[in-house]
Order: sequence, then C-alpha cells, then structure tokens
Amino acid sequence: MVTAYDAMEARLLSGAEIDIALVGDSLGNIVQGHDSTLPVTVEEMLYHTRCVRRGLDGPFLVTDMPFLSYNTSQKEAITNAGKMIKEGGANGVKLEGGAEISSLVRAMTRAMIPVMGHVGLKPQSINMTGGYKVQGKDLQGARQVIADAVAIEQAGAFAIVLEGIPPDVARAITSRLSIPTIGIGAGIHVDGQVLVFHDLVGWSDRPLPRFVRPFGSVGLEARKAVLAFSESVRNHSFPSPEESYPETAIPPGEILP
Ligand code: KIV
Ligand code: NA
Repeated sequence: MVTAYDAMEARLLSGAEIDIALVGDSLGNIVQGHDSTLPVTVEEMLYHTRCVRRGLDGPFLVTDMPFLSYNTSQKEAITNAGKMIKEGGANGVKLEGGAEISSLVRAMTRAMIPVMGHVGLKPQSINMTGGYKVQGKDLQGARQVIADAVAIEQAGAFAIVLEGIPPDVARAITSRLSIPTIGIGAGIHVDGQVLVFHDLVGWSDRPLPRFVRPFGSVGLEARKAVLAFSESVRNHSFPSPEESYPETAIPPGEILP
C-alpha cells in the first residue's frame, strides 16, 4: 500500500504493482504543511480522493477518515464515510482506533462500507499519548495493541494497519488475525507494508524517520532540475530556437510601427 494525494501519483501507482492506494490524512503534513494530521477536514479528504480517483486504474482506493469525522456519532461517521465513497469514489475508508471504536466499525461494515483499521501509533491521538511514540513496548502496552487489533477484526474490518510497534508485537498480531496486517514502523512480520509516497521516492527536504527507506532520490533530482533551469535562463541558453516557435515571414522593421 502506498499513499496518493493526487491524480499524478495515482497514475504512477497504477503501473507499479501496488494493491492499495491510500489517500492518507498525512497529506496534512506533506501537502498542507501542518505539523500534524489534526487540522485536515472531510472536505479536503474528499477533494484529494476525487483527484486520486481520476488517475487510479487498478489498485483498491482507501481514504482516511480525518480527526473528529467519525468519533462524534455513528450517524456522522456513516455520512462522512458515505461521502468518500459516493462523491469521492473511494472503495473503503480507514479509521484510527481499537476496542473503543469496534461498535462503530461494526455499524459501518453493516452499512456496506469496507473499513480498514489502524492501531499502535495513531497520529490523530498525539495529544493523548504525548507525541509520536512507539506503542506496545511493555507487556501491558503490547496486550492493549493486540486486544485492539482483535477487536477491530471482530468488528468486521477487512485489513488493519499496524503503525509504530515492536516487530514481535506485530508478529503476534499477524499470527492471531486472519485479515491482512499492513505495517509501517512495525518490522517484517506482517502481511504487507505501507509507506508515504513522498518518503519512499525520496521526495523530502527533511531527515526521514527510522522506518522509512527512500527507494529513490526524487527530491534531489527535482532540486537539480530547478537549479539547471534558473542557470539556463540567466545565461540565455534557454529557450533555444528549437524550443521556440518559427519566426514570422513579416519583413524586419514592419513589426514595429
Ligand atoms: O496517513 C497516512 O499516510 C497513513 C499511513 C502512513 C498508514 O495513515
Ligand atoms: Na493516516
């Protein structure tokens, strides 16, 4: 699974053997420049979902339910998820949370909305947890994450993201569940992996977290290209005659009155 926020990224993923495109609320950080995902709205997620839908051909399309768009009431959750599917063209939605949202997940799946879970490090909960911290590090914490994953599966989720947990805890969850586990910062003992598109192609001007491997260096290439453009403009080597339209047949002197 890889994130996609627009049609261009969706087209790239469509030709790259990816199973799921995720319109992640991480777009709050990557696209909008916020320092968390909390400010992202339903309307913004809907806009990006539509952009991705137009470029996507093949992968299953999952959209994140943003902060406070599902924990307020079941009715509001189903209405907001319904927008992502009916107006945005998503195939399913992803919700952060464990046992405390299991009845909500059940209600949504009864309404024929495919739900992907997300447990462990939950970026929408940073104000409760004190920041972006690995979860499930002690026995009590590990049992909590495992219980959350089990509750989400029992509620009807079709897959679950395991974020920011030790590999042995991810292994325990993966062996316990029958739905696919998709890890990020959760080690190798999972059924699949997810990364943010920008991180995996190396499109970043910041140090990357430990769990990211940049498989390319798109950011560096882009910076080089922009530098080469400004140099070529300043030294008048761009555009060349081949990059310009043909001159007219108007005799010199007649263009200026
Ligand atoms: O918002 C996001 O990109 C995510 C993935 C990293 C799992 O939730
Ligand atoms: Na997210």
